[in-house]
Amino acid sequence: MSQVGPGLDPVGFSVVSTTPHAGGDVIVFDVEGTAVALANVDGNLYAFDDTCTHRECPLSEGEFDGPIVTCPCHRSRFDLRTGDVLNGPATLPIRVRRLVHEAERLLVEH
Ligand code: FES
Repeated sequence: MSQVGPGLDPVGFSVVSTTPHAGGDVIVFDVEGTAVALANVDGNLYAFDDTCTHRECPLSEGEFDGPIVTCPCHRSRFDLRTGDVLNGPATLPIRVRRLVHEAERLLVEH
């Protein structure tokens, strides 16, 4: 996660109103019509599109192991740092989104 510094315009980001707790907590919220999941895994926050690229199951209901999520439907695995597929049947990556802290706020990339 990066900090908003001088010159970094937060345009293109939405404020996250609730932050998940540590220990695998996940919240899902709407970002301009797309379900985006925010997961707190061992104190690290990951923001990513919640819809699996295989058959659209919600990844927020999957298993988290460090920066890896396993889809609850057919067990595709994705790297939450990059969105890359680690194991199919999915072949397309998920979109991961940048998070920034601005003062007391957490913002997620549109
Ligand atoms: S819907 Fe995720 S692996 Fe099939």
